[in-house]
Amino acid sequence: MASLGILSAGIAHEINNPLNYIHNGNALLEQYVNEKYQFETENLKPLFDAIKSGVDRISGIVKKMEKFSFSDRLPFANCNVQSVIDDCVQLLSPQFQDRIEVKKQYLSNPPVVWGNEGQLHHMFINILLNAIQAIEFEGTVLIKVVINSTLLIISITDSGKGISEEHIKHIFDPFFTTKEPGKGTGIGLTIAQKIINEHHGTISCNSTLNAGTTINISLPIKT
Ligand SMILES: Nc1ncnc2c1ncn2[C@@H]1O[C@H](COP(=O)(O)OP(=O)(O)OP(=O)(O)O)[C@@H](O)[C@H]1O
Ligand SMILES: [Mg+2]
Repeated sequence: MASLGILSAGIAHEINNPLNYIHNGNALLEQYVNEKYQFETENLKPLFDAIKSGVDRISGIVKKMEKFSFSDRLPFANCNVQSVIDDCVQLLSPQFQDRIEVKKQYLSNPPVVWGNEGQLHHMFINILLNAIQAIEFEGTVLIKVVINSTLLIISITDSGKGISEEHIKHIFDPFFTTKEPGKGTGIGLTIAQKIINEHHGTISCNSTLNAGTTINISLPIKT
C-alpha cells in the first residue's frame, strides 16, 4: 500500500503540470478567438467548454489521488465516530433526498477512537456514496454501531443492487469500477481501506445480488 501511495503521488504530480498548460492554454485561446474571430464565438464555445469540463474531470481525479498519497501525514486526535458519520449524512442529504431513508442504530455513550477526523470523514463519505449510488430508486441505508470487546464496529447496510460474487473480490482494488465512465474512478474503496489500515482497523463486505450490501468497519477503541 505504501508503494501505491508513492506511485499515485508521482502520477498526480506528473499529471498536474501538463494539465495546467492545457487549462491556461485553453483560456488564452478562447480569449484570443473571442477578440479576433467574434463571428465564430458561438460555434466554438461548446468546444472550449468540452475541453474545460475534461480538464475539470482529470483535476478531480488527481485531487483524489493526492489525498490518497498524503493521508498518512495527518495528525491524530480523539474522534467521536458517530458525530463524524452524522456530519457525512448531513453533507450528503441532497443525495439521499426523499428517496433514501437513513436509519441509525447508535450507541448512547459512544467510546472514543484515536484517529484523524478528516480522513474518517473522507472514508465514510466514500462508503455512503457507494450505498446511495447502489440504490436505483427508493431504499434504505442502515448505519449500526456496536462494541465488540476492544473494537467499535460500524456496519453500513444498503438495500441497493448488491455485488456479484465475481466482482466482490475486486472491490478494494485500485481503479476497479462497474460504473459508467465519468461516474466512478474505482478508487473510493481503495482510499477507504487505506484510511482504515492507518487507523489499525479492518473493512470487509457482505453482499447479495439484487438485495443489498453491508460494509463492516472495525476501529480500535481508545483505552
Ligand atoms: N454499496 C455498494 N453496492 C453495490 N456495489 C458496490 C457498493 N460499494 C462498492 N460497490 C462496487 O465496488 C466498486 C468499487 O467501488 P469504489 O467506491 O472503489 O469505486 P467507484 O464507486 O466505482 O468509483 P469512485 O468511488 O472512485 O467514484 C463499485 O464500482 C461497485 O461495483
Ligand atoms: Mg465509490
